[in-house]
Amino acid sequence: MTAILPQVTPVPEQFTPVPDIEAILASYPQAKRESLIPLLQDVQEKHGYLSRGAIARISQYLSLPASKIYGVATFYNQFRFQPQGRYHIQVCRGTACHVKGSAAVFEAVKRELKIDAGQTSRDGLFSLEVVACIGACGLAPVICVNGVFHASVTTKSVVKILDTYRRKAAKNDDEAA
Ligand code: FES
Repeated sequence: MTAILPQVTPVPEQFTPVPDIEAILASYPQAKRESLIPLLQDVQEKHGYLSRGAIARISQYLSLPASKIYGVATFYNQFRFQPQGRYHIQVCRGTACHVKGSAAVFEAVKRELKIDAGQTSRDGLFSLEVVACIGACGLAPVICVNGVFHASVTTKSVVKILDTYRRKAAKNDDEAA
């Protein structure tokens, strides 16, 4: 598996308080190195991503260097280091989608949003994730945005799809103003 490294800045010595993290840590009273992955999963489930503060606190709790924790976490595609965007895009890279050109679709999304998997666009609108088969192989290649499936996506149509979400966000913002 190829790890996609996030742009990570060094963890400061002092960490900022992370809501609920103490309760999560308390559920691992015999904290050991083997607790790291489930602990990271629990924190991400609660917060939606792994903040620098959370990593620093886990590092302290497990007596593991933060660099080691980043090393482990970046190996797995499941972990995120930024909050999810308003629209969370999942690009399927399962076999059926791969055969139908999902690699090119993934590249097109990255180009359009200027982010990589695991990252969130600067405007906070989009976040990107690569997933294995999402159970819609007959519609391959598929992307899923906030739970909505888009079928037979191409490098061109995916740009239009993203534009649709941009317009939708702008319209919602206008109506809310
Ligand atoms: S491989 Fe993409 S939905 Fe199954």
